[in-house]
Amino acid sequence: MKSKVFKILALAVLACICLTSLCSCDKGKTLAEIQSAGKLVIATSPDFPPFENLNSDGSVTGIEIDIMQEICDSLGVELEIAQMSFDSVLPGVIAGKYDVGVSGITVTEKRQKNSLFTDPYCLAAQAIVVVAGSDIQTKADLAGKKVSVQTGTTAESYCMDNGYTVLAYEANSDAENAVVTGKVDAWVIDDLTAAEMVKVYNAENNGTELVILSEAMTTEPYAFAFAFGSEDLVEEVNKILKKMADSGKIKEIFEKFDAPFTAPDAN
Ligand code: ARG
Repeated sequence: MKSKVFKILALAVLACICLTSLCSCDKGKTLAEIQSAGKLVIATSPDFPPFENLNSDGSVTGIEIDIMQEICDSLGVELEIAQMSFDSVLPGVIAGKYDVGVSGITVTEKRQKNSLFTDPYCLAAQAIVVVAGSDIQTKADLAGKKVSVQTGTTAESYCMDNGYTVLAYEANSDAENAVVTGKVDAWVIDDLTAAEMVKVYNAENNGTELVILSEAMTTEPYAFAFAFGSEDLVEEVNKILKKMADSGKIKEIFEKFDAPFTAPDAN
């Protein structure tokens, strides 16, 4: 009898331990927690000019860094930057390792199931990049063909869901190289980053030229991603973003980086 009770108790303890370790407890920090920590740690993949770009001196600059700096100033905290590959940004934020994902992140329904997004602050598009002289001149020409994308991006999921053969690369520069070397028919990447990277590539006079098709694959809004638990922080950040949009500050930051601004509700 005693040993039966003991067994039941032991099983109950075991079940509790298992449940706690499985618990998908919200890992996001509250506004008060951020303010008492005195800093906001952003997770970013700085291979995405003009939004976040790694400079030769190791610093990271770009549109989203300036926006986050304004947000941190309003919150009265320091901005701290953690660099990683794009496919580590959202998992790191969800696990509570970083406070916010800042990486030209597109808001999608799937991502909203696992993380909290601020209101979108701009609208972007997925551009199609080909080598000059390519037969591919429209989105329809690309149907069923081979494309390169960055791993974990909306370009990857869109192309996989829509019948393209997809080669995914962790680094954007490798996805670019795949179209240059003819491994793929086109490179699919967010429009403003495409414009920056293609400009740099073409200026290098490599013998080949890259062209961005005028027709885009999709349009999508960008926002900043937090873990569940950061609801009041996101609410505060939304207020700051709205002020920045209303005062023209966001547009001004895009202009500083020579990038065209499209408002999130422009469709
Ligand atoms: N907007 C796309 C997405 O959310 C691509 C973002 C890539 N960002 C980067 N920093 N490499 O999936």
